[in-house]
Parts: sequence; structure tokens; C-alpha cells
Amino acid sequence: MFTILTGSQFGDEGKGKIVDLLSKDYDLVVRFQGGDNAGHTVTVGEDVYKLHLIPSGFLLDSRVLIGPGTVLNPEVLAEEIDMLAKGGVDIHSDKLGIDAKTSIIMPYHIEQDGLRESSRKEKIGTTKRGIAFAYMDKIARDEIRMGDLVNSEKLLSRLSLIAASKEAAIKELGGDPSIVTDKELIDKYVELGKRLAPYVTDVSYEVNKAIADGKNVMAEGAQGTHLDVIHGTQKFVTSSSTIAGSACANLGVGPTKVDEVLGIVKAYITRVGEGPLPTELDDEAGKHLHDVGHEFGTTTGRSRRCGWFDLPLLKKAIFLNGYTSVALTKLDVLTGLEINKICVAYELDGEKLDYPPIDTSDLERCKPVYKEMPGWSDDLTDVKSYADVPEAARNYVERLEELMGVPIEYVSVGPGREQTFKK
Ligand code: GTP
Repeated sequence: MFTILTGSQFGDEGKGKIVDLLSKDYDLVVRFQGGDNAGHTVTVGEDVYKLHLIPSGFLLDSRVLIGPGTVLNPEVLAEEIDMLAKGGVDIHSDKLGIDAKTSIIMPYHIEQDGLRESSRKEKIGTTKRGIAFAYMDKIARDEIRMGDLVNSEKLLSRLSLIAASKEAAIKELGGDPSIVTDKELIDKYVELGKRLAPYVTDVSYEVNKAIADGKNVMAEGAQGTHLDVIHGTQKFVTSSSTIAGSACANLGVGPTKVDEVLGIVKAYITRVGEGPLPTELDDEAGKHLHDVGHEFGTTTGRSRRCGWFDLPLLKKAIFLNGYTSVALTKLDVLTGLEINKICVAYELDGEKLDYPPIDTSDLERCKPVYKEMPGWSDDLTDVKSYADVPEAARNYVERLEELMGVPIEYVSVGPGREQTFKK
């Protein structure tokens, strides 16, 4: 079985937790896009794992893979492996594989990212981790791949071929070009290459072989649908394609092999960084969602902007991903609000829209049209089955399900594995 899981909003929907929970049924869990700009949190009992690169399925028996469509900072990966080792989790090469064609994030990419963002008049809010510049080099065929990193001769020869153009690019941004050939940095990358060499694999082959052998494979998306580089709220987007079809293209798996597409949907909406968020709240309810939901980014620690559930954006996510079912997360965060609002449409220039306008600047101008529902005061975090969810909360869940037209398969009421049940 091949399942694709993606975030339906702007990321931070709680994908990490759901992947961890489901991974017991999967032989392989694979990242297919993005880099260490993603940040997922997995909580098991007292242990909280905050990861950026290693797929969330690492805790149970699945083998986890980093696919060729991702961009990889080897230093961050090595730190994650070390951090997990300290906590008693051994990420050896039988456990983790990295595709030989994965693009490597070099120190000059990070430098370029920081310089470019600080020179922008209108900020995008990038994580300054070099992600966009590593992808640009992939497209320009100037990348350094995992297969180069693990072979010092190849690494040095690739670097010498592209150094001049990288130096020129950094100079143009007003930076110090010496970072490109800095000996200490290069030596560090050579060492990282030696260390990570055992992990190199052919992800496309592994995934296709596993599917052909009747095994279960999950493709784990990072970020969220509306941050997709093509279909998202351009220009306030991430540098990769985050929607379900991207898993097929980036892993090299044919679309005929997909069995399920699971969308992770937060019971309200959040966004980090700049860009439109039509239901954004600047009042007590917004403060409630922010504080109760601990809405701070895992990667940057930045405060997340919060708003009511946005149905037009969700409808678009359902079209873009073709969800077969949904996991609804963070329902517990709504406890204590007297009323809950669902944005069912927008108003723009006197017109009512039930689907987002194509232009980002028009979306920026949309005013939400709300339907109100009664809130509830019961704590949900100890609820173990859907039947025990208080009526007002069940009404909210069922109303969302009806409006989305996609079955809600799982409901999550806390960060822990056990705080999830089937609807
Ligand atoms: P990205 O890949 O960066 O988009 O991250 P993500 O979708 O994996 O989400 P992330 O783990 O960054 O954020 C979700 C946060 O909410 C984490 O701290 C989770 O532990 C927590 N969380 C997940 N599900 C629930 C839930 O149902 N209720 C509550 N209260 N917290 C939850």
C-alpha cells in the first residue's frame, strides 16, 4: 500500500504526530520535499523529539528515507542523529537511507539566503536555511549531490567547477565570497561526507520495490498545501512542491500506485511568516488559540499567526491533493471558547466567493464570511474515543466533515500518541 500524507493548510498541522502514530503499520516512511525548514514534533510519554530532517516514522520499526527531491544540510542531519543517539535512539544505516541524488545545502547557500532576505524591501519570511538557493542550484544543474558529498574527490572537483559562479553570486548580494572556498568549511563537509556515506541509497528503487513486494510505504509531506511553490500563496511560499502529486514526481513512483491520500487538518488555522491569512485574529479568541495551542514554530521559534477554520482554503487543498480522508488535529485547543467560527466563504469587491481567488493580493483583500457554532468547556485531552467527545465538539467535527465532503478518519486531542482516536 502506498499512502501520501500532506499538510492541508500552511504547515504545522501536526503531521509529525500522525506519522509517528501510523508508522507502526508502515515498512517505509519517506520524506519527499523540503529540507530542514520543516520542523515536526513527536511526543511519546515524557519524551519530546523535535526534528527537521529525519522522517517522523523513526521511533517504531519502519525504515525511514530521505528522497532525492529534498535538500539536505548534512550538518543538521548529523546533529539530529547525535541528538537521538543521546536519547538512546540509534539511527544506523539499516534505519535511515538518503538518496544519492539529494541536493546538498552548502554554507554558501545559507549565506545567500540571509543576504537575499535582508535585502528585500518586502520580506518573505524565509527560514534562512539556504533551502531556496540549494533548489536554484538543482534547477541550474550547479548542485552538489549526496553522491558527491560522500566522495571527497568528487566533492572537491564539483566545487572547483562551480566556485567562481557562487563567489560572483555572493559578491552581487554584498557578501564575502571567501565562504565558497573556506578550507575549514570544506574540511567539515568532507568529514560529514565520510560519516554519512553508509546511508546512501536509491530511494526510488527502494520505494518501488517495497510497493511491488506488497509492503506499506508512507510518503510524509512537510510544510503545507498553501505553501506549495506553484499552487500556494505566491510569493509567500516555500521552495518546493508540497502537494500530494509531488510525492510521486519526487520519489519517482507512478500515480497509479497511490492508494490513499491523507490530509492533516488543524481544527483552526495558523501561519508562520508573511502572506495572506483571511481569518487571522487579533483578539481574545486569537490569543486563546495561540496560547492554548502553543503556536510557536518548531524551526524558528517564531510566533504563529492564528485564525478561524478557513473552508475556502481547505476546499482548494482538497482539490490540489485529492484527499481520500482527513485527520483533524488540535480539537482540544478550542475548549473554552464560547463560540467557534467557521469561515464558509469570502467577500471580495462586493462578491461572495466560496473558493480562494487565484491572485495572492486578492486573497489578501478577502473578508471572511462566518457561520457560528456553540463552543464547549469540557477538557478533551483525556478523551479516548469519539463517543466520549462532548456533543458540541462532535457537532463541530461533523459540520467540518460535511462542509469538506471528505471523511474525517482520525481526531487528535493532544500531542501524545494516545490522544488520538478514530472517528
Ligand atoms: P511541519 O512539517 O513543519 O509543518 O510540522 P508538523 O505538521 O509536523 O507540525 P509540528 O509538529 O511542528 O506542530 C504541531 C505541534 O502541535 C507539535 O508541538 C505537536 O506536538 C502538537 N500537536 C499535534 N497534535 C496535537 C493535538 O491534537 N493537540 C495539541 N494540543 N497539540 C498537538
